[in-house]
Amino acid sequence: MVSDFNDALFAAAAIGERDRVLDIGSGSGRTTRLAARLAPRGSVVGVDISRPLIERARASAGHARIVYELGDAQTHPFAPAATTWRSAGAG
Ligand SMILES: C[S@@+](CC[C@H](N)C(=O)[O-])C[C@H]1O[C@@H](n2cnc3c(N)ncnc32)[C@H](O)[C@@H]1O
Repeated sequence: MVSDFNDALFAAAAIGERDRVLDIGSGSGRTTRLAARLAPRGSVVGVDISRPLIERARASAGHARIVYELGDAQTHPFAPAATTWRSAGAG
């Protein structure tokens, strides 16, 4: 079911290979890593409010183009126009 949701999400998002993706509510990083695969020449930032989940995401086999940031999406200082695609709590 979650997988079906991600399939629909990523189909709708149509992430391009150079996109800079912001994954809000990245949790343990599953959607973040999927996004990174779709943007092999871009970059992905995963933001989550949960320290344990951010630590788990950072510990997962990652990619140099993925950065995980601990923060509340409602107050986190996102750089304007830093991304070309955003998710919110997907997965
Ligand atoms: C359904 S889970 C997302 C799972 C993640 N996409 C994955 O693939 O593993 C929703 C996530 O949103 C995070 N979250 C909830 N409120 C948040 C907020 N205000 N700012 C940042 N993250 C938040 C939760 O900690 C949780 O990890």
